[in-house]
Amino acid sequence: MVRETSLTADNFIYPLFICPGSGVRREISSLPGQFHLSVDQVSREAGEIAELGIPSVILFGLPSKKDDVGSEAWHPEGTVQQAIRAIKKTAPDLCVMVDACFCEYTTHGHCGVIVEKALDNDATLENLGRLTVSYARAGADLVAPSGMMDGAVGFIRESLDEEGFEQVGILAYAAKYASAFYGPFRTAVDSTPAFGDRQGYQMDPANVREAIREVALDVEEGADIVMVKPALAYLDVIGEVRREFDVPVAAYNVSGEYAMLKAAAEKGWIDHDRVMLETLLSMRRAGADLILTYHAKEAARLLRRAP
Ligand code: PBG
Repeated sequence: MVRETSLTADNFIYPLFICPGSGVRREISSLPGQFHLSVDQVSREAGEIAELGIPSVILFGLPSKKDDVGSEAWHPEGTVQQAIRAIKKTAPDLCVMVDACFCEYTTHGHCGVIVEKALDNDATLENLGRLTVSYARAGADLVAPSGMMDGAVGFIRESLDEEGFEQVGILAYAAKYASAFYGPFRTAVDSTPAFGDRQGYQMDPANVREAIREVALDVEEGADIVMVKPALAYLDVIGEVRREFDVPVAAYNVSGEYAMLKAAAEKGWIDHDRVMLETLLSMRRAGADLILTYHAKEAARLLRRAP
């Protein structure tokens, strides 16, 4: 009766990994319980997610072949574009968000165009425009630029509007830190940079005032939802963003957070379900409206059973 914070399936956004081929449902070794799914497997998955009361998914794609700029990402018949259409057919009410980045699609594993060993921000924006318009055309409800390019939100907003996709929203990876917690994800999508690191475009974990500046820019440029990533080691940042801005705030409960919990549970050192729900609740208490989490399905099942 006096509980201040709630946690329900309504808060969740569930990440899905879409891969080429057919009949593929392959467990990801670094993310136990998560799968690489080919397009033909996605409909069943989407039905199950909707049935659990989870309102949204976010799609990540794996290419059949990588190149310098990641051009397969914006192919109109790409795996992600096909998956969007498949989901919209089986579960039309599921909100489909799509991660818009190139690191899975480039041979060097960086999030955009590389010129002389450095990321070319503005050349990457042009490609992000193409990419997000192609997702919108396939039926995406929101696009989520995750590369932390300067000016990405504004550029994408304009590109979408020009093509008549005013109704497609933007989930901004507004405060994304250069974090070691993304390790299992990079193994899952084979996006570990071949040289250097992402510190040129992702944020220093020591900075919180910078996070506020980054979020302010994205809100000004037209972000509909702003995200803090990772979540668990950055609850203070979530809190600050919640207090400063009157827009929906999302937290990304990232792969490393998920993998640590799974590993400790497998060793029998922690009570998996209780630690999972306590962790997710902490993100809500810090101020997140929405949580992107690999736990979405298992947490939704538990919450449904709760008295
Ligand atoms: C790509 C991207 C990353 C994640 C989501 N989108 C990895 C990265 O920045 O290297 C990480 C998600 C996770 O760890 O669960 N830009």
